[in-house]
Amino acid sequence: MQLYSYSVKSLFPFLFGYTEIGLTGTKLGCGEGGCGACTVMVSYFDQNLKKCVHHAINACLAPLYSVEGMHVITVEGIGNRKAGLHPIQESLARSHGSQCGFCTPGFVMSMYALIRSSKEPPTEEQIEESLAGNLCRCTGYRPIVDAFRVFAKTNNALYTNTSLQGITTGEFICPSTGKPCSCGPKAESSEETIKRNLSNDCGWRPFSYNETDGTTYTSKELIFPPELLLR
Ligand code: FES
Ligand code: FES
Repeated sequence: MQLYSYSVKSLFPFLFGYTEIGLTGTKLGCGEGGCGACTVMVSYFDQNLKKCVHHAINACLAPLYSVEGMHVITVEGIGNRKAGLHPIQESLARSHGSQCGFCTPGFVMSMYALIRSSKEPPTEEQIEESLAGNLCRCTGYRPIVDAFRVFAKTNNALYTNTSLQGITTGEFICPSTGKPCSCGPKAESSEETIKRNLSNDCGWRPFSYNETDGTTYTSKELIFPPELLLR
């Protein structure tokens, strides 16, 4: 059972039971909705809109019953050491948007919820608004906002659909250099391309690729659990 992709009926295991299952990403800071360190993303299927809706929430404030039947994703669910970091995490790290790191999972999840809800790259105002509930006591915010702004404006391939299930070719701006680069995720599927991407000089790895045959890019984004569509 992967709790970071588990359709829970209780949010608290994500916060207070995580030490037993190794999910230490979500942080408990203020415990009263003021810092955003505990941010997770919840998703549900809106029967009126007929689509999945995603929200970043403060897990410390969410009553147990409020996430009944919802899909809850913690920071471990979007990227980790085994599966590789999500581009958002990678962009933040490369832009020096994380120092002590305590706030970082919260910022990442706020940004993740924003792009999961966006058909187009969010504006700078939307990014800043989405991060309004996240506090950082180390970075001064500028590197964080810059990391997400550059990421959102230049990685258009991630917005081909709202669930980020597809990655297509598009101009890619390297989050390390801020310049066009060939190191980003590609739709092309040759082994040479994958090898080039994996060994490029700026170190940006493709978001995901088929590890079995090494030729086809696939998304590792967690999907909305089909069983929750029926609720
Ligand atoms: Fe600070 Fe939840 S722990 S907002
Ligand atoms: Fe230390 Fe943000 S990096 S609080």
